[in-house]
Amino acid sequence: MSDDPSTEVHDHGRVHDHTEVHDHGGGGWGDLLVGKVVAAGVAGAPGVAGVAGRVTVAVARHAPRGRLAIVGLGPGARDLMTPRAVAELRRASVVVGLDQYVDQVRDLLRPGTRILASGLGQEEERARAAVDEARAGHAVALVGSGDAGVYAMASPALEEADGTIDVVGVPGVTAGLAAAAVLGAPLGHDHVYLSLSDLHTPWPVIEKRVRAAAEGDLVVLFYNPRSRARHWQLEAALKTLAGHRPPATPVGVVRNASRPDESALLSTLADVDPAVVDMYGLVVVGSSQTRVVAGRMVTPRGYRWREGS
Ligand SMILES: C[S@@+](CC[C@H](N)C(=O)[O-])C[C@H]1O[C@@H](n2cnc3c(N)ncnc32)[C@H](O)[C@@H]1O
Repeated sequence: MSDDPSTEVHDHGRVHDHTEVHDHGGGGWGDLLVGKVVAAGVAGAPGVAGVAGRVTVAVARHAPRGRLAIVGLGPGARDLMTPRAVAELRRASVVVGLDQYVDQVRDLLRPGTRILASGLGQEEERARAAVDEARAGHAVALVGSGDAGVYAMASPALEEADGTIDVVGVPGVTAGLAAAAVLGAPLGHDHVYLSLSDLHTPWPVIEKRVRAAAEGDLVVLFYNPRSRARHWQLEAALKTLAGHRPPATPVGVVRNASRPDESALLSTLADVDPAVVDMYGLVVVGSSQTRVVAGRMVTPRGYRWREGS
């Protein structure tokens, strides 16, 4: 501390010299509200430095610390969106997301909320934009369908984010859970989510994982199962599973779970036609233990569950 009251003043970030503000919160520099004032005061009091009788005071507002909420919107139906997701959307001053997901929640946003919507294939740009907006001090909601951490935006965003912002994850009901509920109880025992999209993962890696799931007798949920450009992968994956489980193994296909045009069908590994599946669907393949009971797909809770109870 200097004897010259105009050169240095400590305390939690109020003044540093006469134009700067200390950054004690990791939130960046603030706006100077009241410039240097030299006045009478008591040396050692908070916000005050200098010799007794002369003090320098200035007041600044800290830049607000930004907040990034990564919000899962659920599979489609409004009543499958959690109250916490709704609260985060109402709190946000900036909403970032794929245009079709943002459209789904526009009516929940406060007037004046800034919307940064973009199209498919711009995931990295969206993640960066959300983090940049939070770093600038805004309350940002980065939205995704289902759970935003499942084949979605949470990981690219958190790869960009550093310790200068607060991050809150709001879990959502995944498409897998919504589809399973439509089919019955196919997830009663061990299961695995596998994406058949080879846009970001080489096919040999996917194939190896499908083989491992087949050998492990896991119920399999195929995400991104088929599109116009990726039309052969589902058939190949089903063939691998068929090499390890009976032809009568139940297979469920659910399209647009919880949306107005939801549809579902039950088939078997021997009979299922991959051509009925598109990118709006999810395919659930039972394990060797999965059965159809009264038209519902059921995977028993355990191999010895009934014996033990
Ligand atoms: C990029 S992933 C997004 C997954 C999402 N984050 C989740 O937690 O469910 C997109 C894929 O999820 C599946 N999907 C998403 N919503 C669905 C729904 N309502 N019904 C059936 N499948 C859905 C489809 O396989 C689609 O190709």
